Amino acid sequence: MEFVFDLEENKDYIRELKLFMRENRGKKGLLMDALHKAQSLFGYLPIEVQRIISEELKVSLAEIYGVATFYSHFSLVPKGEYNIGVCMGTACYVKQAQQILDKVEEVLGIEVGQTTPDRKFSISATRCLGACGLAPVMMIGDDVYGRLVEDDVEEILNKYR
Ligand code: FES
Repeated sequence: MEFVFDLEENKDYIRELKLFMRENRGKKGLLMDALHKAQSLFGYLPIEVQRIISEELKVSLAEIYGVATFYSHFSLVPKGEYNIGVCMGTACYVKQAQQILDKVEEVLGIEVGQTTPDRKFSISATRCLGACGLAPVMMIGDDVYGRLVEDDVEEILNKYR
């Protein structure tokens, strides 16, 4: 799924990002800082923004892509209004968290790391959410759902549609 990034609509943020890079030119770690700045301004790192950073900092797109995909904090697609985090920590994993994750993917028609075309939901596989006693666990926004079975998933997701 391709999301269209509107340069005109985002021109103020683009100006802010360029200004940030110019003001910090020559500073150590500027690429990471610029990516953080862009992620917080745009909510993700569209290719158009990666290109701007590449030109401004004289860093190849391949390097930017490498950094952006290495750190889980960065996202190449916009997150959905509701991010669904399915815990893949050990306690959840042994309680069939994979089946929960598969079911979420099946119901929404997208995979981990993707966002639904209407930008309502995105899915991530997370580390331990600190609620192992409730395994398997998933979070939707700030809401925690525990002791899940596959059959619960669709009904829970329907509450957010
Ligand atoms: S392993 Fe899932 S909440 Fe801890």
